[in-house]
Amino acid sequence: MIRHVVLFRFEDSFTPSIEHDWRAGLDGLVGHVPGLRSLSVGRDLSGQARSWDCTIVADFDTAADVAGYAGHPLHTPLIALSSPHTRQIASVDFDVPEPATTHAEQRKGRVHGKIAIVTGGSGDLGSACVRLLAREGAVVVSLDVTPPAEPWHEPGITSLELDITDPEQVERAVARVLETVGVPDILVNAAGIIGRAAPSHESTLAEFDRIFNVNVKGTWLMTKYVVPAMIAASRGSIVNFSSIHGITGGRSVPLYHATKGAVRLLTKSDAATYGEHGIRVNSIHPGSMNTRMSRTAADMSAVGPEAYYRQLVEGNPLRRQGEPDEIAYGVLYLASDESRFSTGSELVIDGGYTAV
Ligand SMILES: NC(=O)c1ccc[n+]([C@@H]2O[C@H](COP(=O)([O-])OP(=O)(O)OC[C@H]3O[C@@H](n4cnc5c(N)ncnc54)[C@H](O)[C@@H]3O)[C@@H](O)[C@H]2O)c1
Repeated sequence: MIRHVVLFRFEDSFTPSIEHDWRAGLDGLVGHVPGLRSLSVGRDLSGQARSWDCTIVADFDTAADVAGYAGHPLHTPLIALSSPHTRQIASVDFDVPEPATTHAEQRKGRVHGKIAIVTGGSGDLGSACVRLLAREGAVVVSLDVTPPAEPWHEPGITSLELDITDPEQVERAVARVLETVGVPDILVNAAGIIGRAAPSHESTLAEFDRIFNVNVKGTWLMTKYVVPAMIAASRGSIVNFSSIHGITGGRSVPLYHATKGAVRLLTKSDAATYGEHGIRVNSIHPGSMNTRMSRTAADMSAVGPEAYYRQLVEGNPLRRQGEPDEIAYGVLYLASDESRFSTGSELVIDGGYTAV
């Protein structure tokens, strides 16, 4: 491995916004420059001053890759972007012996270095997403109207309390994430409620407003306030929680089905609009999961919880309920670059329920 170390001097004030663009540009080089394994800034640039010295340390597979990097089209504009008064002072290459690492040490997470917001992060499915995204290398901000039931054990997780139906709270929370953590690469809209079981003619106006406010307006508000920063960064992956009940109808919770159908089509419409900005929007459709929400649905069912489960599971090709991690892995796929050609799509994870 060749370690390429460059010393720059910035002879102008280096503002936080220049630093942000500059760091984002540097991050973008990994994956685009052949042979570039990793790249880091060698000293902290935060603060204000007239002159800065800064090292960039980049690890390459071979010496030929280093030469390719210097001639790479992204290289020069990046340096110029920082300031018209930027000078390269020195550059040195070391031949670094390959460290003896295990496979586990070499493996980077599937969303390594990304920033994720997850709403409903205190819930059963949302918390499984928060944990898995963090385990796979993302910095995660969990947003929920209730605090998490227990402290997070994984590193890199912050919790913020907010009500996603309140535009001011959403705007403030997103601004705080932008200031303190950075531009989100990932937005997972998992917050949702199921509401009371009642046919349409027996549901109340208050119930209608409440469930549409949380499930539809909340998802839209989060999108509304997160998307401008994603557009500016020309990247993003939004995963909206619909349900199998956003695809099929059902007798017990018609308003819930209506909200999940709305989320499904908001997803496709936003995918159509934001694709040109590099933002992907997909929906996830869990079937019956082993969660509090599904236990509530069973308890509310007109046929009683036992018959409700029997109906669900007997009709299911896989003959069981799903576990939260089985949804979180779907979210991880849609959130990560592995799904980079998927947008406007719906990922059904339901044990085959909607297939038969
Ligand atoms: N559990 C299932 O079987 C199932 C099936 C299909 C789809 N879903 C969907 O998956 C998502 C997560 O479901 P879950 O099972 O984890 O439910 P859950 O009740 O465990 O979690 C939902 C979370 O949303 C939060 N929330 C509710 N209203 C909010 C608001 N106004 N502002 C901020 N946060 C709010 C709650 O506090 C809770 O922590 C929901 O959108 C749900 O509709 C669940």
